[in-house]
Amino acid sequence: MPNEIFKITSAGSVDDGKSTVLARLLLDTGSIYDDQYNKNFDPNRIADLLDGLESELEQGITIDVAHRFFDSKTRRYQIADSPGHEQYTRNMATACAGSDALLLVVDATAGLKPQTKLHLDIALRLGIRDVIFAINKIDLVGFSKKTFDQIAKSISTLLEERETTFGPINHQSVPLSGLKGQNVVRPSSKLSWFIGPTLMEALDGIERRPRASDSAKLIVQYVQRIPGGGRRYLGSLRDGVLEVGQNLFVNGQQMQVEQLLNNGVPCERAEPGSSISVVINRELDVAVGDLLSAENFKSHDQFEVDLIWLHTEKGVKGRKYILKSASSISSASITKISRIDIETNKKDAQSPSILTNEIQRCNLSLTGSLPLQAFDTYSELGRFVLVEPQSGQTVAVGTVNYHLNRSENLTEHQFAVTPALHEQLTGVSGKVFWFTGLSGSGKSTLANKFSQELHAKGVPHFVLDGDNLRLGINRDLGFTEEDRSENIRRTAEIASLMADAGLVVSVALISPYQRDRQMAREIIGAGRFQEIYVATPLEECEKRDPKGLYKKARSGEIPNFTGVSSPYERPDGRAIEVLDFEELVRKIG
Ligand code: ADX
Repeated sequence: MPNEIFKITSAGSVDDGKSTVLARLLLDTGSIYDDQYNKNFDPNRIADLLDGLESELEQGITIDVAHRFFDSKTRRYQIADSPGHEQYTRNMATACAGSDALLLVVDATAGLKPQTKLHLDIALRLGIRDVIFAINKIDLVGFSKKTFDQIAKSISTLLEERETTFGPINHQSVPLSGLKGQNVVRPSSKLSWFIGPTLMEALDGIERRPRASDSAKLIVQYVQRIPGGGRRYLGSLRDGVLEVGQNLFVNGQQMQVEQLLNNGVPCERAEPGSSISVVINRELDVAVGDLLSAENFKSHDQFEVDLIWLHTEKGVKGRKYILKSASSISSASITKISRIDIETNKKDAQSPSILTNEIQRCNLSLTGSLPLQAFDTYSELGRFVLVEPQSGQTVAVGTVNYHLNRSENLTEHQFAVTPALHEQLTGVSGKVFWFTGLSGSGKSTLANKFSQELHAKGVPHFVLDGDNLRLGINRDLGFTEEDRSENIRRTAEIASLMADAGLVVSVALISPYQRDRQMAREIIGAGRFQEIYVATPLEECEKRDPKGLYKKARSGEIPNFTGVSSPYERPDGRAIEVLDFEELVRKIG
């Protein structure tokens, strides 16, 4: 049996019987050991068999994906299984990104559901071109050839449409009953009219597609200091063969393999899939996440990508996410969102945000550079997930179309008069006080008093006020979540430059979203950023209503008004909470 494992992702809408089909595959291939299940299980509930296996098989896997193994006569399979509910689509997508084929379960009594099509589209986006459709519960439609033919035809039509975008897709529809075990591993006389394969034969019939590039690649997972000097780089060899003496590249620099260890044992040559450590012949600054490769893959920091947004909260331009690819990680923000015309697969109109289950073409800007490659040329280095920094949840999966040269041809100039020298001249350390709170809470008033006090003391400073900025640099922005996010990004960039110039900066913006205030903190640098929450309650702000805006908002004249028809998220414990100027002075010293 070949030692490489064929990886499948299972998918299907809830209630289509995915767990039953999987349990049947495991049971009838003898992959569930005697001591792992109760022989007296209820034959009508074979899906329950999977529950008992969960804990043992789920090791090392994040976010609700269980990996199960079974063997056919010819090879070993690993099948990634995640729940079929809509909220788990992102788990299915994450699993897809590492799979060779998709097993899509369809309920013969219900036909194709929107969820089935969504799962198919996600898998196709992530490069899967081999799909088996398991037309389950065929017993419940009386083993009807007509029903099967109808579903198989609608599948063929669906795939034909998709082929104009994705190129040839290899597929097979198989009628079966997971519950009764008909045509899963064993053929059934009830389906004698079907001249095609069993599900197992259909899976065995898929040939692994050759990889676009199989030169050696190793992503460094651990750097080990060798006693007496030097370092070893540990990781798993993803593709290709590695030999002692071979040339490798890391971050565009060339080196040679001096020593190889496979599972701790010195060797001359390592095969794909092995866990190895490498000693190189040069002193280079190689870190965890770096790619050692026989090809000279360049790193870039801006990319055009296709994103499938999977979180219930929409994705917004400018916000920070964590991009995780293979094992490398960088902070990333979306700089542009364009809709994709599904018919032509081309970019369409621009969009300020990306909603759940939408697929859009976006530009991403990374804080660091990563050796991401076009998905078409090297899939493993061309796919990634985006993670929400606070919750750690996967919000999107994506594939890289190409890198953008925008920032490549720009060089950050280092000026002789550095921020530290500016500070010497002004006599103060650049710092940003970020006032947040409801409209009418007193942010501008506090910032104003603070400014007067600094002025009296001769401290160089400046105030950036929301209303004032919105009359100038931010005049193009409104009050949608996306526009407020952009308002905060621009203001944070300006405040950061002013702090570089050696000023004390007060920013007074409602800044209602926690994520956007976090973005401001990152842009400015946490060490010189102080959030100040002006905690005046809504009732009080509304009573004050200095500009008459609450009144207008209540009468429906102003939409998306913070506190009335748009949310305000209270700051976390890092903010100083104040109600008046005395408290502010007391708390910031
Ligand atoms: S933020 O939400 O993007 O941070 P910002 O502080 O710049 O808001 O602007 C808030 C000011 O705009 C308020 O003080 C108020 O004068 C005015 N305004 C007009 N429409 C709205 C609205 N829908 N929500 C909140 N403030 C509004």
